[in-house]
Amino acid sequence: MALLPLLFTFAFIFLLYQLYQKLRFKLPPGPRPWPVVGNLYDIKPVRFRCFADWAQTYGPIISVWFGSTLNVIVSNSELAKEVLKEHDQQLADRHRSRSAAKFSREGQDLIWADYGPHYVKVRKVCTLELFSPKRLEALRPIREDEVTAMVESIFKDCTNPDNMGKSFLVKKYLGAVAFNNITRLAFGKRFVNSEGVIDEQGQEFKAIVANGLKLGASLAMAEHIPWLRWLFPLEEEAFAKHGARRDCLTRAIMEEHTLARQKSGGAKQHFVDALLTLQDKYDLSEDTIIGLLWDMITAGMDTTAISVEWAMAELIKNPRVQQKAQEELDQVIGLKRVLTETDFSNLPYLQCVAKEALRLHPPTPLMLPHRANANVKIGGYDIPKGSNVHVNVWAVARDPAVWKNPSEFRPERYLEEDVDMKGHDFRLLPFGAGRRVCPGAQLGINLVTSMLGHLLHHFYWAPPSGLSPEEIDMAENPGLVTYMRTPLQAMPRPRLPAQLYKRVAVDM
Ligand code: HEM
Repeated sequence: MALLPLLFTFAFIFLLYQLYQKLRFKLPPGPRPWPVVGNLYDIKPVRFRCFADWAQTYGPIISVWFGSTLNVIVSNSELAKEVLKEHDQQLADRHRSRSAAKFSREGQDLIWADYGPHYVKVRKVCTLELFSPKRLEALRPIREDEVTAMVESIFKDCTNPDNMGKSFLVKKYLGAVAFNNITRLAFGKRFVNSEGVIDEQGQEFKAIVANGLKLGASLAMAEHIPWLRWLFPLEEEAFAKHGARRDCLTRAIMEEHTLARQKSGGAKQHFVDALLTLQDKYDLSEDTIIGLLWDMITAGMDTTAISVEWAMAELIKNPRVQQKAQEELDQVIGLKRVLTETDFSNLPYLQCVAKEALRLHPPTPLMLPHRANANVKIGGYDIPKGSNVHVNVWAVARDPAVWKNPSEFRPERYLEEDVDMKGHDFRLLPFGAGRRVCPGAQLGINLVTSMLGHLLHHFYWAPPSGLSPEEIDMAENPGLVTYMRTPLQAMPRPRLPAQLYKRVAVDM
C-alpha cells in the first residue's frame, strides 16, 4: 500500500521533468509517452521495424522515451550523416545498462567505454595492432581452415545415406565457423577437436557466454526506470560470480600463452599474445585486456554467422542470383581447386552478394546506441546531453528515396554504382561510421565473403522438400542482434569433385 503514493509521486516528478524538457528544448516528435514508463509498453518486440513504422508517422527523426530516458532514432541517410559525421564527437559516448557496466567494469573495455582518453588509447590498439592489415593477413589461415572444416562437415552430412531427403539447419555449420574462428583469433584456442568434441575449457567458455546472455536479459525493463530500480536490485552476487569465472578462464589462457612465449621466445599472432606483449607499451590494465578479448567474442561471433544465414536465405529465395554467383566462381576458380581469400578481387559478383545481404539484413539494425555528451542539434531538433541516439541502419538501407526497388535482393546494383559499406556512404551502414565504426569490419567482410563463396562453390542450395522458395520465413527475432525468427533449413547438393571437400587444417 505504501507503494502507491510513492508511485504517484514518481509519476508526478516524471511529468514535471518532461514538461521542463519540452519547454527548454525543441525535441523531435514521437508517440506520446506515458508517465513513468514513457513509450516502453508501446514498443513492439522487433524494435527497428517499430521505429521505422513510427518514422512513417512522425518523420525521419523521432523521440522515444524508455522510461525517463530520451532516445532519438534517425532513419534517413542525411540525418545518419549528421549523427555519425558532423556531430560524431559529441555523440560518441555509450549508454551502459547496469549489466553492461558490470561486464565492462564501468567501461574499461572498448565497446562500453565513453569517448575519452581511455577510448582513444584502446581504439588505437585495435586499429594499429589487432586489426592491422598485416595481422588480418597473418590470421587468414585460421579463417580458411575453419571455412574448409565447415564444407567438410556439410559434405559428410549431406552425403550420408541416412540423411537422404533431409534438410539441414544452416546455422549449426555457420555457428561452428564463427565460434572456432573467434576463439582461435582471440585466445589462440580451438576448443573443439576434429571429431567435433568440445574440451573442458571450451565447455566453460560456452557456459560463461550463455550465463552472460542470461544475466544481461534479466534486467531489461527496470533498467530504464531509475526511480524504480530499487524494486529490482541487481543480482550483485550473480554478476560478481560471473565476472570471477570469466577472469579465471581468461587468466588461465593468458598464463598458458605467457609460458609458451617464454619457451619459444616469440609471440604468436592471436589477440591474447598481441595484447600481452603490448601491455606496457600502451599501459593496458589486466581488466582492459580481459575486457577487450571478451569484446571481440561478443561483437564478432554471432554477427558474421547471422549475416551469412540471411544471405543464404536470400540466395535460396533468388535462384537466379545463386546461379550467377556460381557461374562466376566456376569461371574464376574452376572445378579443380577451392577458393581462397586472395581470389576475392576476381569475384566482384560474390562481393556484391555479401554487400546486398548486409544491406537488407544488417545484423545490428540499430547499431549500438550512442550517448550525447553535450547538447546537440540534429535535423533542427535539440538532442539534450545524456540522450541516446540510434541510427536505424536497417531503415536507411531500405529508404526508397535513395534506393531503387529497395526490398529487391539485387547484387547487380553495386556493379552499376559502387557503394562503400565501411562508413563512407551514409546510405549503407551495416558497420556504422565515424569514430565508433566497427573495428572488425574488414575481418567481418572477409569471413562473410569467404563463407558465402565456399558454400556456393561447393554446393547447390534448395529449400527443404515441400517448401517453395517464397515460403521461407524472412521475419526477424527480437533483440539487439537480429537472428532469423525461423532458423534457415536447406538442402545442399555437392557440385565439385569429392577430393575438394577436405578440411585444410592449420595448427596456429
Ligand atoms: C558482419 C559482421 C559485423 C557487423 C555487421 C558489425 C557491426 C558493428 C556495428 C554496427 C557496430 C557499432 C558501431 C557504432 O556504435 O557506431 C560494431 C561495433 C563493434 N564491432 Fe562489429 N560488426 C561485425 C563484426 C565484428 C567482428 C568480427 C569484430 C571483432 C572480432 C567486431 C568488433 C566490434 C567492436 C569491438 C565494436 C565496438 C566498437 C566501439 O564501440 O568503438 N565486429 N560492429
